[in-house]
Amino acid sequence: MSQKNEEFEKLRERCLHCTDCGLCETRTNVVFGVGVDHAEVMFIGEGPGENEDLQGEPFVGRAGKLLDKMLAAVDLDRHKNIYIANIVKCRPPKNRDPLPQEQEMCIKWLRQQFAVLRPKIVVCLGRIAAAKIIKPDIKITKEHGVFFEKNGVLFMPVLHPAALLRNPNNKPAAFEDFLRLREKMLEICDHTVLPEHEEFELP
Ligand code: URA
Ligand code: SF4
Repeated sequence: MSQKNEEFEKLRERCLHCTDCGLCETRTNVVFGVGVDHAEVMFIGEGPGENEDLQGEPFVGRAGKLLDKMLAAVDLDRHKNIYIANIVKCRPPKNRDPLPQEQEMCIKWLRQQFAVLRPKIVVCLGRIAAAKIIKPDIKITKEHGVFFEKNGVLFMPVLHPAALLRNPNNKPAAFEDFLRLREKMLEICDHTVLPEHEEFELP
């Protein structure tokens, strides 16, 4: 097991027992994260929904299926070359937005995941993640697809896949952002294998 892998396992073990905010009372599973420890790109969502809570893995419901399709279109795969986590690791009741104090209490886990992984690019899925990670006043409808640089790491907000399910008209714009991500990865990522493609199809 690589040293990174070992660090991740220790971190996961501690996180799975966390009772630091009220969300621990209603969760089924802590949803720590999924991916590979050599990921150069990290995706951050808002928090687990019902399916995620039941299965203990992020983005496994309808929105997750769409996310996987969009990722696959640009040769990304949660089991091969990226890492996916959420701002809060436990499901907010009835899928309400996580409260600011819940986000603040839980973000320590994400910070440690980020510190172990040391990704080159962080993609924030939706307004909640983008507001917490990039800037509080982010306007996701205007600023999606823009790269923000902080301490040598690039951060990009994108539309949340659940929002794309509600409003499929935005799918082409969201897909453009994934193509921009792919271009940036070809430019700055070392060992993420991306085949050359002639054409892309919208998932
Ligand atoms: N939406 C999120 O933000 N995260 C998940 O894990 C699932 C749905
Ligand atoms: Fe702990 Fe985060 Fe779950 Fe709250 S949401 S109990 S801080 S792991």
